[in-house]
Amino acid sequence: MKALIPAAGMGTRFLPATKAQPKEMLLVVDRPAIQYVVEEGLASGADEVVIINSREKVSIEKHFSPDPELVATLRARGKDAYADEVERVGNLNVSYVYQDEPLGLGHAIHCAAEATADEPFFVLLGDVLVPDNNVCPKMLEISRAHGGASVIAVLPVPDEQVSRFGIIDGVEVEEGVWKVNGLVEKPKLEDAPSNLSVFGRYLLSPRVMELLADAKPTVGGEIQLTDALDAVLKEEEMYALVISEEDGFDTGTIETWLAANNALYARKMSK
Ligand code: G1P
Repeated sequence: MKALIPAAGMGTRFLPATKAQPKEMLLVVDRPAIQYVVEEGLASGADEVVIINSREKVSIEKHFSPDPELVATLRARGKDAYADEVERVGNLNVSYVYQDEPLGLGHAIHCAAEATADEPFFVLLGDVLVPDNNVCPKMLEISRAHGGASVIAVLPVPDEQVSRFGIIDGVEVEEGVWKVNGLVEKPKLEDAPSNLSVFGRYLLSPRVMELLADAKPTVGGEIQLTDALDAVLKEEEMYALVISEEDGFDTGTIETWLAANNALYARKMSK
């Protein structure tokens, strides 16, 4: 099973920091943000992470490539702990596909259609970090309990944030698990069926990938993953795992990125 990480965005909210450096490569405590997400995918049962990159963001690929010269230099200087880390990161199983036009999240995911080879797949959005890796394994369990159904993670959000996210309609079927009946991307508060927001961790059936092939632009003029999820409900079941704030760290804005750094640094120091 593959884990897909879309990374072709421009990082507009972080300009000028992201003018020459991808947002995904910004430091979070001791490693680039995207490394947390790659490690989460591989720790959650993916045999390979597929980064949906843009051609300009070569530093992401350099980060996950082996660098034997650097490793040799570090070892010659007795810096084995650094050498080990550099070696480990360079050997993580990561491959790349390219999104050449910014046509939306749904379009980005479909760029990896061939790589997923008609199998279920994870989508991990890089704006949220789950360093304890406790969300995807639970999603896998729920999927297995429901015959391989798609499962998404959702987070309750206050009313004023509802219009920033995908929002689900559904019913709770067991504590913390909802059966999804519909999804709507960035609804107005008065149109929102709940306050459960799509959080950025998805375990999806291959049918979603097929539906993305014909998806049309909607909200914001973009091809939305949320629309394909809503469409697949006519044919297949989908469940939502309700997570809590402590499960994930949002790094999507400068404020939340700083807060995530502080929280993760405090955790690292207390270990
Ligand atoms: C995307 C999804 C949205 C989801 C959000 C989570 O939106 O389209 O459904 O709730 O990620 O971060 P974006 O943040 O790319 O606008």
